[in-house]
Amino acid sequence: MQPVTDLNCTTQYTSLSPTALIWQDVLAQAMTGELMAAMNYTSLSEICDDPAEVADALEHAAGEKAHAAAFAAEGLKIGVDVPNNVNARHWRRLREAFLRCISERDFIGCLIVQEVMLESFAVASYARVGKVAPGSMGKVFTAIAAEEEEHVEHALAILRGERALDPRRFDFLGLGARGAPRADWLGSEPAEAGDDVLVATVSVEDLKLTLRKTANSSIE
Ligand SMILES: [Fe+2]
Ligand SMILES: [Fe+2]
Repeated sequence: MQPVTDLNCTTQYTSLSPTALIWQDVLAQAMTGELMAAMNYTSLSEICDDPAEVADALEHAAGEKAHAAAFAAEGLKIGVDVPNNVNARHWRRLREAFLRCISERDFIGCLIVQEVMLESFAVASYARVGKVAPGSMGKVFTAIAAEEEEHVEHALAILRGERALDPRRFDFLGLGARGAPRADWLGSEPAEAGDDVLVATVSVEDLKLTLRKTANSSIE
């Protein structure tokens, strides 16, 4: 992934350990992802009708901000500031994919993008980093990975519940009981492979197919 920090900018860090700038970028990617998650959950709260769902989304946003703060604190311990850049190319594309779901009031799509796809990336990467990061940083990554895993399970429970309401509608129309039909989920191929916008859409599409298989194997 594109670094969000400038690894050539060493003049202010001459007394740091040789690996400090590497950990700075690892922390920066993690913190950027957490801040993006907070933005996504805040956006999700704005399309929820149920006050309990609004509160749940805002609680999630606060939790992700706390994760970001924990990563920033780990940076300070090794003597580096941890920048965030939610406008870095790939992070911005993920945010845009999420906002498309928001604009369509596609609650299920939002869950898949943020709570399944992005949180799964976090679980996998944080757990790995947790095994090799020095000192308290490793413990922080491991602990946050466990919390993110709970977020994935939370989303999967909602998706299973949505599917249980109407399996055929969920499987074949690609939406939960609360969603409106989406023609673009009905199997059309992207017009141009490699297009930036379509890549994000196709990724979500692929994940939905995987989720359907997972739901079928675990529910039926
Ligand atoms: Fe998080
Ligand atoms: Fe999370």
